[in-house]
Amino acid sequence: MLKKSLVATCAITLGAVTLTACGSSESGGSGSSGSGGSDGGLTMGFAQVGAESGWRTANTKSIQDTAKSEGVDLKFSDAQQKQENQIKAIRSYIQQKVDVIAFSPVVETGWDTVLLEAKRAKIPVILTDRSVDSKDDSLYETFLGSDFVQEGEKAGDWLVENADESDVDGDGSIKVVELEGTTGAAPAIDRKEGFGSKIAADDSIEVVASQTGDFTRDGGKKVMETFLKSEKGIDVVYAHNDDMGLGAIEAIKAAGMKPGTDVKIITVDAVKDGMTALSKGEINFIVECNPLLGPQLMDLAKKVVDGEEVPKRVVTEETTFDQEQAAEVLDQRQY
Ligand code: AHR
Repeated sequence: MLKKSLVATCAITLGAVTLTACGSSESGGSGSSGSGGSDGGLTMGFAQVGAESGWRTANTKSIQDTAKSEGVDLKFSDAQQKQENQIKAIRSYIQQKVDVIAFSPVVETGWDTVLLEAKRAKIPVILTDRSVDSKDDSLYETFLGSDFVQEGEKAGDWLVENADESDVDGDGSIKVVELEGTTGAAPAIDRKEGFGSKIAADDSIEVVASQTGDFTRDGGKKVMETFLKSEKGIDVVYAHNDDMGLGAIEAIKAAGMKPGTDVKIITVDAVKDGMTALSKGEINFIVECNPLLGPQLMDLAKKVVDGEEVPKRVVTEETTFDQEQAAEVLDQRQY
């Protein structure tokens, strides 16, 4: 019902006045107003984590494109990976009386105060991509995103199943270095936990060093350079995202080794650059994390604003890719 009226409103507004009412306005700023707005359309304030990775770029595009096509007036802000910026953006959306707030929390903890402010202002909140660590789940309506623990488990399962080939130097022990995501972020915590729980099944696999690369390519490269100097006989890199894995590839090549052969590489995301490296043999296995959350997010937002029941948790469907599978699907990859 709401969807129809939103689309109609959007078309009229587009023809007569401005794109802003149907597209996205910048930085949580002063675009058109929310539930109090004159067009009657749905207004969403979205506080994005940042632009740290290829995954994030695809996620932002999916949200902005869907808002446009669904006639949602999107107020968008980029927090540059800083929690204080996200909190500021959320407060600004509360002040602007948007209909719904959605955000992807940069870290898990420290959200209760601002979420309580939104609740008191009667503005529903949707968590997307990442969740919060709070005892009070009435502070948000629903959480849409991946099961990060399961992603880590898939990575760990692959290593256990491919343990023989992954003992690159043949010394009977598989030395893994781990490039962690942003400290305190749900995907960093959960992907570590899931991976650890699975490799525990094989005594020969050991994580010898683990450090954050902040989900960035540059971070992954720098941390890998340090690991290559401090650790002897690294067999495997487990990177919490493709970008850090791609940074590690640069460091491995610069050290005169062949990524994917001299050092095995497992990553998470399956963005185009990661899949290209996988199909070229420079990465060995990728666990998919789907960034195209825009359509489901807008659908949930409309339901929530309409007062419809929505599930408290919506899990994204995902798969995994080995080198052959990556080569097969590379052309059709959207992001
Ligand atoms: O929260 C999802 C993670 O955040 C993606 O795996 C990573 O690339 C991004 O920065």
